Amino acid sequence: MKNVAVLLGSLSEKSINKALAKAIEKLAQERLKFDFLDIGSLPFYNNDLWDNPPASVTDLKTRVAAADAVLIVMPEFNRSFPAVIKNALDWGSRPYGQNSWTGKPLAIAGASPGGIGTAAGQNQLRTTMPLLGFVVMGQPEVYFQFTPGIIDEHFDVTNDQSRDFLAGFADKFADWIDRHGEHRTLSV
Ligand code: FNR
Repeated sequence: MKNVAVLLGSLSEKSINKALAKAIEKLAQERLKFDFLDIGSLPFYNNDLWDNPPASVTDLKTRVAAADAVLIVMPEFNRSFPAVIKNALDWGSRPYGQNSWTGKPLAIAGASPGGIGTAAGQNQLRTTMPLLGFVVMGQPEVYFQFTPGIIDEHFDVTNDQSRDFLAGFADKFADWIDRHGEHRTLSV
């Protein structure tokens, strides 16, 4: 069982991306265990705070260190990715020389009510992921158009095609972690 640190890019309790992440977790439960990180508690990045780092920051870095991989599930905001994701990525990347992301297998997924399904936001995010040291899974891409009822209150996917697709995504991510997870030992 692989331990996956999840960065959820929405702080809303009614978030469709939270529903998507929980649905993937349910479909992957044979192979992946999700740890939802509390990135909403992080202060805005401030270098001065390293003198006495807030508990939210040390908690983030400790839980990422314990993770075999990272999954980002996020909405698209104004054709880009949410600030809460950027902030968490920046905290994890420091202090200099202690980048938490180095060598971590990464997958990205996102949901939107619109047909674009977060494709534009994810494409912006993907450009900086190699720089941060992630080993990014390129496919399958999850640009999930969230229609009413497609994920129910138990986080079950009600549409067969979408369920099969998301189960396949979870399975391929588990394979990706098996294949590339050892890179995390190279972390600097
Ligand atoms: C949005 N939304 C949105 N949707 C989209 O497909 N492309 C976009 O660029 C944007 N931009 C955007 C900006 C801001 C500030 C907000 C609040 C919303 C709509 C968005 O997809 C929708 O509100 C989702 O429900 C947000 O995801 P969560 O919070 O429900 O997971």
